[in-house]
Amino acid sequence: MKKGFLLFALSCLVAMSQAQDVNLLPPQKTGGKSFLETVNLRRSERSFVKKAMPAQQLSNLLWVANGFNRDDKRTVPTAMNRQEMELYVLLDDGAYFYDAKQHSLKAIAKGNFKEALGQPDVSNNAALSIIMVADLNKSSIESARISSGFISQNIYLFAASEDLGTVARGSFKQDELSKLLSLTGKQVIILVQPVGFLQ
Ligand SMILES: Cc1cc2nc3c(=O)[nH]c(=O)nc-3n(C[C@H](O)[C@H](O)[C@H](O)COP(=O)(O)O)c2cc1C
Repeated sequence: MKKGFLLFALSCLVAMSQAQDVNLLPPQKTGGKSFLETVNLRRSERSFVKKAMPAQQLSNLLWVANGFNRDDKRTVPTAMNRQEMELYVLLDDGAYFYDAKQHSLKAIAKGNFKEALGQPDVSNNAALSIIMVADLNKSSIESARISSGFISQNIYLFAASEDLGTVARGSFKQDELSKLLSLTGKQVIILVQPVGFLQ
């Protein structure tokens, strides 16, 4: 009886520790504020009200940031179309890889890992943080830094258009985050960008 209960408790614990993949809704590719209005509103924001991001908005944000807008090319340019940048996402319930081709989030680990992001006054109330990871097998660090700038600006413009807040962050815990995301020695985090709801 005791053994059976222990096995049951163990299987519950295993299930709880397995984060679930998320199939994102198809992204909306029209709408938003006018381009000039959006550029005029672009700014860094560091103070957020704690709130989960609705599923459609999350889908749109990730597609804008680094999704595919043609069969084999993305919303951001990369040198020689190397596409060396991939996005990882920290939500309140876990860490995910954004599979841009499938437009889905692949679960990596379940739990709240915001501590690894650093700058807690900014990260803790954000709805999510996007982690930009370069694959140096595909391109150079110099190109990866430039590509990350395009991704970052797309996120800034999406946030401005949606009345959300965001800030590019060059200060974060590279080692802790790399371990959490199981990155290889050739994968380097370039920028972290929280996105949240404004006060
Ligand atoms: C490469 C880069 C790294 C940055 N790192 C940080 C950071 O670690 N923390 C932070 O609060 N802001 C960071 N920022 C945001 C800048 O402080 C901000 O863009 C600048 O003050 C100008 O403000 P604005 O974006 O509202 O125009 C970074 C910006 C860039 C482009």
